[in-house]
Amino acid sequence: MEQLKRLVTGIQGLDDLLKGGLVVGAAYIVQGRPGSGKTVLANQLAFNHVQRGGRVLVATLLSESHERLFQYLSTLSFFDPAKIGEQIQYLSAFDTLEQDGLEAVVRLLRGEIARQGASLLIIDGLLNARSRAQTALDAKKFISELQAHAAFAGCTLLLLTSVHFEEDCPEHTMVDGVIELGEDLHGARAVRRIQLRKTRAAQRCPACTNAKSPTTACRSTRVSKPCTGTPRGRAARPLSVSAPAHLPSTICSRAGWRRVP
Ligand SMILES: Nc1ncnc2c1ncn2[C@@H]1O[C@H](COP(=O)(O)OP(=O)(O)OP(=O)(O)O)[C@@H](O)[C@H]1O
Ligand SMILES: [Mg+2]
Repeated sequence: MEQLKRLVTGIQGLDDLLKGGLVVGAAYIVQGRPGSGKTVLANQLAFNHVQRGGRVLVATLLSESHERLFQYLSTLSFFDPAKIGEQIQYLSAFDTLEQDGLEAVVRLLRGEIARQGASLLIIDGLLNARSRAQTALDAKKFISELQAHAAFAGCTLLLLTSVHFEEDCPEHTMVDGVIELGEDLHGARAVRRIQLRKTRAAQRCPACTNAKSPTTACRSTRVSKPCTGTPRGRAARPLSVSAPAHLPSTICSRAGWRRVP
């Protein structure tokens, strides 16, 4: 059987969950409540991808300025300002979305994917696109057209959203994978968790016997920090990582991370 081509994320725990990385040309939703780490994860992936020769387009549908984003990314070790404007292009599509709607955003991104020669497209703020859609069909059309343009260009697509899409929602049925970021409280500790909720391409892990269906992964990697930890918007402190025994556990390459014994 032919092996699927993978885009290695360079984030070890995540590559293990994905059985080698994201499938090239596939579309993924990254979901989690506000502050769960979607933007940090996607940007870490972007900077890792350019280290491997890839080119990235990060399009934001958010009103937040890129300067603010760069300010807090600059506290993280993967961030390299020299790559911005070259291998990684940041584009704000907020005004286009507000003024001209979803179709105009698709047109804009189609042109920018080609101009940047992007092999990875990250769209931050999918919820705003959903809010701008007049009907559920418009929202579906937006995703499917983006998917089509990205796949045609051999570009992998990550759609970041802070809404918790349910398993049977149209968005989930359209994409190839759903990566969920969450947090559990364990006594005085808040444990960050990353979970693969749906995947069309990863094989099941032989160590996991309790997965209910092929689309509901029981695999998760946990990232923990003291509950009193990092306030929103401030530099992240060194964190600990833990994972089920069968999973190697490093999930972030930032200096200072350590494994939970
Ligand atoms: N892997 C991580 N380790 C430690 N801290 C993290 C990690 N990811 C995110 N954080 C912390 O959480 C904060 C919020 O992260 P981020 O902005 O990525 O969340 P988000 O899910 O994109 O939120 P929003 O939905 O509001 O955009 C960061 O400023 C950082 O302090
Ligand atoms: Mg964010």
